[in-house]
Amino acid sequence: MNQDYIKKIHTAFTLGFQDRFQDKPIMISAPGRINMLGEHTDYNEGLVLPAAVDRMTYLAMASNGTRQCEVIAYDLDDRISFNIDDELCPKDQHWSNYVVGVVNELKKLKKSVSGFNCVFGGNIPIGAGMSSSAALECGIIFGLNQLFDLGMDRMEIALAGQAAEHHFVGVKCGIMDQFANMFGKHNNAIELDCKTMEFKYHPSSFQNVSLILFDSCVHHSLGDSEYNQRRKECEIGVNALHQAFPEINSLRDASLAQLEQVSAGLSPNILKRCEYIIKESQRVKEAAKALEQGAFVTLGKIMYTTHAGLSQDYEVSCEELDFLVQQSRYYPEILGARMMGGGFGGCTLNLVLDDHPENMIVQISRNFEERFGHSIKVYPVNIAEGTSVISVSQ
Ligand code: GLA
Repeated sequence: MNQDYIKKIHTAFTLGFQDRFQDKPIMISAPGRINMLGEHTDYNEGLVLPAAVDRMTYLAMASNGTRQCEVIAYDLDDRISFNIDDELCPKDQHWSNYVVGVVNELKKLKKSVSGFNCVFGGNIPIGAGMSSSAALECGIIFGLNQLFDLGMDRMEIALAGQAAEHHFVGVKCGIMDQFANMFGKHNNAIELDCKTMEFKYHPSSFQNVSLILFDSCVHHSLGDSEYNQRRKECEIGVNALHQAFPEINSLRDASLAQLEQVSAGLSPNILKRCEYIIKESQRVKEAAKALEQGAFVTLGKIMYTTHAGLSQDYEVSCEELDFLVQQSRYYPEILGARMMGGGFGGCTLNLVLDDHPENMIVQISRNFEERFGHSIKVYPVNIAEGTSVISVSQ
């Protein structure tokens, strides 16, 4: 990311923090993520191909020598304060769950955290499927790890972030978002095997091609409950498969042929869900290869196939996202597009040739507005480093 921008943010946050707390903070940047391919495969022990991107949550943090914590959400103009020793409880649909939730997990892990002050804000759009929540969770833990010398490695931080999401936010998410946040690497996508947790970086230089997100700016409220519902549906499939093939403990272990053999005992819906997951996990391998070889036409085709699966079989898309993908198909300069993240709103990820008609995106945006009554937001992104302490060269 542009050094001038980082310097500006650094100065603004440091000054804001000093003004409020009369203290000098450490500054942390925690990135959002994209996922090239492998959607909803993480909690099925499959493969994913995410990357951290240059949209960040910035956190200014310092210990305060008390047991009290004060956290200011700069962009939301909101603040919370709580005592570390109190019984910490979730608050319905509130951003504080991502902060208090991780502190609660650290307490459970018997990490000796004390009072701290924090001001955070940034440019990861909220509810857009770019994991602003994982950025906040992991950013806070990473900062506390620095401030209180908790001795946690990046994997432990990712797992504690995921646990907070399960217990405080109530979404039974997989590990992809927190992992990408922690292990992101400049110009590399990460192929993560969510069964073994082994991972491999794939150098990804996007020559003549850009990654552009179209944010539908909708977030259907059903999203979280449907997400947990999909997890349950996959478990039903796994149980049936396990009975016939005891070696199968997740959809990752199953083949389409094995699924076919137990299909008589499964509802059409469960069958569709399982079929999508098995195919998607296989597609990640092909996508990773295409990415590394710069075979963007192939990669784009795989993305379109994934979108069709997410929309028709896994049923986590929505009208707005389907419309955006359909629009992308009208332009050969958009090599691939698909909804990204949990679904039911948020962004589509588009693989776009740099040499595209000047008014292409404006036109897509106009068509969207005509159809849905509001415009989309457009975010070009670059692949960035995972969560780090910001050091600014003076
Ligand atoms: C959300 C979850 C992830 C993953 C994606 C779908 O972002 O947090 O764990 O399951 O949805 O791929």
